[in-house]
Amino acid sequence: MLKKYLTVTCITIGILLIAAACQSDGLDDNNHTSSENEPAENEIALPDAPLQKLDEGKSVKMLQKTLNELGYDITTKGVYDEETTWAITDLQLQAEDLLATGIYNEETKAVIEKWLDDASALNPGDGLPQEAEPVTTDAGTEVVANPYDQLVLVNKHSALPDDFEPEDLVVPDVRFPFDEDVPKKQMRQVAADALEDLFAAGDEAGVTLYAQSGYRAYDTQEAIFASYVDEHGEDEANNFSARPGESEHQSGLTMDVTSEDVDFQLTVEFAETEEGKWLKENAAEFGFIIRYPEDKEDITEYQYEPWHLRYVGKKAAEEMVKKGLTLEEYLEEV
Ligand code: DAL
Ligand code: ZN
Repeated sequence: MLKKYLTVTCITIGILLIAAACQSDGLDDNNHTSSENEPAENEIALPDAPLQKLDEGKSVKMLQKTLNELGYDITTKGVYDEETTWAITDLQLQAEDLLATGIYNEETKAVIEKWLDDASALNPGDGLPQEAEPVTTDAGTEVVANPYDQLVLVNKHSALPDDFEPEDLVVPDVRFPFDEDVPKKQMRQVAADALEDLFAAGDEAGVTLYAQSGYRAYDTQEAIFASYVDEHGEDEANNFSARPGESEHQSGLTMDVTSEDVDFQLTVEFAETEEGKWLKENAAEFGFIIRYPEDKEDITEYQYEPWHLRYVGKKAAEEMVKKGLTLEEYLEEV
C-alpha cells in the first residue's frame, strides 16, 4: 500500500515538474508577448507573433538579432525599445507596400524575410535618418525622432518635427458633417482603416458618428493657436489648443468625432450623448483612445476632450482602457 502511494506521489511530482519546466520556457517573455512555437533565441529567425514597443522577451531578442543581420546596429537586449521601433519604421519606410508604424507584424515579417535573401534594396537609416543631436522647438520642447511611430507621444514635452507631413494620408470613408474636400478630412492609412471599422460598428449599433477634424499641418496649427492666443491669452489657449508641433492632429493618427445632438460641435456635452457614451465604451476595440480623459488633466495637461480620438492600435488601446492609463502613463509604465 505504502509503495503504491509513493509511486503515485512520484508520478504526480514528475508530471508537475514537467509542467513547470514547460511553463518556464515562456518566462522570459512578459505579458506583452507570446512565446509559443519559437525557435531558439540564437537562431536568425523571425518571430510569428506581432511585436511592438514595450514588448519584452525572447521573440524581441530574435527580431533584434535579425535586424543586426540586416545591418541595423541596435542592441539585442530583448526589449522593444526606441531603437527597435526606429529600425522597424526605417525598413517599413523603405519597403514599397508597408505602412510605417514601428509595429512588427505579418506584412513586415514577409518583407524582412525577402531582405534576408537579398538586402541590396535596403539601406539602414535611409528611410528615417537618425538625428545626431536631439532637436527642440522654439518653445524648447524636445522633438521626437520617429514621428511615424504608431505609439508616438505628442504633448507639451514631446513635439513633432515642423516639416513632418505623413506620407500615407488618405480620406477615410466615413460620415463628415460637411462636403468640402479639405485637408482635415485626412488621417494616416492605418488610422483611417480603423476609423472606418469603428464607424461601421457604430452604424450597426444605431449610433451615428460624424468625423469633424483629422490631420492638421504644422502651419495650420500655428495659425489656429495664434488666433486662440489673441482671443484668450497664451496660458488659457494652451489648455485646449496645442502649440505648433505639439498637436496630435499633425500626426495623422487623430480624429475629432461628434454627433448631431450637439450640432456637430466639439464640446464636453458630447460625452452625454448616445454617440459619446458608445464611443467611450467601444473605441479601444478599434485601436482608439479618448486621449484627454476627464480627471487626467494633470497628466495630459489639456482639458477633457471626449471627442478627440487617437489611434494607438488595439493592443495598446485595450491595455490603457483596462488599466485606466493615459498614453503618458502607458509609455512610462513598462
Ligand atoms: N485640442 C488638442 C489639444 C490639439 O490642439 O491638438
Ligand atoms: Zn482634437
